[in-house]
Amino acid sequence: MRSLLLSITCFMVCFAPSYQQFPRRCATREALLSKECCPSWDPDGSPCGARSGRGFCRDVGEPTQPDGPQFPFSGVDDREKWPLVFYNRTCQCVGNFMGFNCGDCKFGYFGANCNERRETVRRNIFHLSRAETRRFISYLNLAKTTVSTDYVVASGTYQEMENGSNPLFANVSAYDVFVWMHYYVSRDALLGGPGNVWTNVDFAHWAPGFLPWHRLYLLHWENDIRKLTGDMSFFIPYWDWRDSSGCDVCTDELMGDRSPRDPDLISPGSVFSSWKVGLH
Ligand SMILES: *[C@@H]1O[C@H](CO)[C@@H](O)[C@H](O)[C@H]1NC(C)=O
Ligand SMILES: *[C@@H]1O[C@H](CO)[C@@H](O)[C@H](O)[C@H]1NC(C)=O
Ligand SMILES: *[C@@H]1O[C@H](CO)[C@@H](O)[C@H](O)[C@H]1NC(C)=O
Repeated sequence: MRSLLLSITCFMVCFAPSYQQFPRRCATREALLSKECCPSWDPDGSPCGARSGRGFCRDVGEPTQPDGPQFPFSGVDDREKWPLVFYNRTCQCVGNFMGFNCGDCKFGYFGANCNERRETVRRNIFHLSRAETRRFISYLNLAKTTVSTDYVVASGTYQEMENGSNPLFANVSAYDVFVWMHYYVSRDALLGGPGNVWTNVDFAHWAPGFLPWHRLYLLHWENDIRKLTGDMSFFIPYWDWRDSSGCDVCTDELMGDRSPRDPDLISPGSVFSSWKVGLH
């Protein structure tokens, strides 16, 4: 099973500049200088929802394994031992709670106390009704056009942020948060300004991490669309391409047909033809 999102993301990612997502509430000078990212959970006002037993703020443990030979950039790559370059205290959630402030439920759990277990079955995109298809595309478009409330992206390296005293962050849409996340883990990431970008330092592809990384990524994305739309039954449909001879999801009802005028462009009849790559 391959999710549709993968192909969209891949399409978007190829042209994306380098940015990385951070909880908005930790993108401050204070949080960067103290290296603590333990935002409060609004209903009880305590960091990590500690007062309600959702989690607690704790030191991020240093990994004990040395870097492998495929990672020769020790001390210069902001992603090394993530998130220790930026934060050394974050929320540790307990039970069925999850998220940067333990405000979310673990995947598969719902309800105010995150104790309602529910399975989601992802369906073949060609088995959706017309209304379901339209809803799916409209959710994507909503995510693309709504500024993320929870996350911002870094627009500079830690060094460029003067070790935290000069935060460099930008607002992006809820959809683009995921585009940047995918990009940042992959290659040409923020490694120290112009002319100092290493290619192919990729933590999500070409290795055993590929499947688990992307499965988790899609679960996060699905969860985010649910939060954005309030539709807790939302799932990412999949495209079963095994028997297709071409791109049979490339129609204006789905991911967009080719433009009749320029085969490199998406048809103007598709909502995706108005999507732009970038921060603005
Ligand atoms: C975390 O970072 C802060 C700020 O640099 C520092 O004062 C503190 O000692 C660090 N804590 C740990 C456990 O390394
Ligand atoms: C940031 O920290 C590094 C390592 O501690 C130090 O060499 C550098 O001078 C610092 N830069 C700024 C702008 O504070
Ligand atoms: C991002 O949006 C928020 C809320 O509208 C605003 O307060 C903030 O200044 C914006 N930040 C940047 C870097 O544009």
